[in-house]
Amino acid sequence: MNKHGRSRKRSPLTMAALFATVMGLALSLALPALAFDYAKWIGKEGMADTFDALLAQYDSSACEKCHADIYKEWKESFHAVSIVSSLKSITGFYTKGIQSEWDREFSLAESVKCLDCHIPQVNTATEKLARKVADMVILSGTQPDSAEGKAAKEKLEKLSINCVVCHNMKANMAAIGYLKQPIKEPSDADKALGITARVYIGRSRGNAPHSVTETNGMTNSVFCEQCHGIWVSPDGEKIQCNSLSGSYEDSYRARGGYKQCQDCHMREKNRGHRFPGGHDFDGIVKESMVLDVDALAIQRFPDNSPASGKWLPSVVASVRITSRAGHRIPDG
Ligand code: HEC
Ligand code: HEC
Ligand code: HEC
Ligand code: HEC
Ligand code: HEC
Repeated sequence: MNKHGRSRKRSPLTMAALFATVMGLALSLALPALAFDYAKWIGKEGMADTFDALLAQYDSSACEKCHADIYKEWKESFHAVSIVSSLKSITGFYTKGIQSEWDREFSLAESVKCLDCHIPQVNTATEKLARKVADMVILSGTQPDSAEGKAAKEKLEKLSINCVVCHNMKANMAAIGYLKQPIKEPSDADKALGITARVYIGRSRGNAPHSVTETNGMTNSVFCEQCHGIWVSPDGEKIQCNSLSGSYEDSYRARGGYKQCQDCHMREKNRGHRFPGGHDFDGIVKESMVLDVDALAIQRFPDNSPASGKWLPSVVASVRITSRAGHRIPDG
């Protein structure tokens, strides 16, 4: 368990699989997410030039004040530690991968190959700041025990997949055709409530004190698949941390499964914003498997040879495990 109370067990197999996949092995998967040029969308003046300016753009502290329960659930989720839990591996990709093995210049375009999903905030940072953030990742990944490494990690902890990332930025990127206003603009009334970015939701109940804009981009699996799927960078490189959206679309949906990611991971059992997954052993994992066992008791000779003269009590067991998840398991 780490200090957030999440257990952090990953089998070597899954880490090896992850390594193989993030090294760019492209499988044919549905719906690749495409990198998006935010500077064109929000204008160059909208890009943050300092770390504090970047934090301010995605400031979710006002949300925390009024939505304390949801904030608490989110804080327990993996989305709340989306960069600090992957520092080592991202550093490996940046230093051993890009810079030494492939001998490529490190740039904003290279850094978003990991950060676009783990901390999408970098997309609205200037090139200079994004580079600084990537340097902080490398510093805390290569020198986790030094004072500088620790300080960098402490700052990076403030960046995560938070309320504003999902309810503003990513809410629109999945269905950009519906977007009529700039993504970040809060109304004047919102600003008075301390809200720094307009709030989007699929279906509004109409009882919020702040402005709420409806977007189809949040209602179904496509929203999650922006990050839980294959990712294609403008230079054509494909990155894939997990293939859940592939197996969800090609296997689960193709066989008639009708649930969205949000159904199983949020709506059912009031799971809300905890987003339980493969680490929630007593909850979603347990419920996801049906164990069917047939057993037959028999007696047999050791080595199946009557010459031994002794009968041994034995069992023939037939075990079937059926997954009820909406995709292959495990992943990650
Ligand atoms: C398409 C979006 C996307 C991109 C791009 C991406 N990741 Fe991920 N990453 C994810 C998602 C989603 C998960 C969670 C997967 C799961 O649990 O099934 C994840 C999980 C991980 C984990 C495991 C985290 C943990 O807490 O155990 C590591 C490590 C990781 N990613 C490293 C990287 C590296 C290195 C890169 C860049 C080469 C990268 N990721 C690029 C989406 C992405
Ligand atoms: C990983 C993306 C993600 C993050 C992070 C996230 N949300 Fe949500 N949120 C959603 C989605 C998707 C829905 C719609 C769920 C549905 O359709 O059932 C939602 C629904 C909501 C709702 C309305 C329904 C409800 O559950 O009451 C509120 C309020 C809300 N979120 C607030 C927040 C706040 C506050 C934060 C930050 C603490 C936050 N969300 C973080 C994705 C996210
Ligand atoms: C001044 C208090 C306040 C602040 C600040 C606030 N909310 Fe809300 N919000 C509410 C209330 C009250 C509702 C209506 C009841 C409910 O759904 O919880 C609501 C509703 C919502 C809904 C559902 C909207 C709908 O029309 O159904 C979402 C999504 C949401 N808030 C997200 C956020 C996010 C994200 C932030 C931070 C950027 C935030 N809120 C900040 C009080 C607030
Ligand atoms: C901005 C990108 C992004 C979006 C959007 C997003 N996720 Fe994630 N999600 C991640 C990353 C990255 C991780 C891994 C974080 C870590 O391990 O620290 C993760 C972790 C998870 C986990 C925990 C996995 C585990 O190993 O236990 C679940 C479950 C999950 N996401 C489901 C969803 C669902 C459902 C949605 C849509 C409602 C969604 N996510 C939207 C990026 C995203
Ligand atoms: C029919 C229900 C269902 C649907 C639909 C569904 N999931 Fe899952 N998901 C589960 C269950 C159950 C588990 C836990 C099983 C396990 O990991 O052992 C799980 C596990 C996960 C994990 C953790 C994987 C790991 O091994 O750590 C992630 C991430 C995730 N789901 C994301 C998604 C995303 C993204 C979608 C939509 C594209 C989605 N899920 C659709 C039921 C569902």
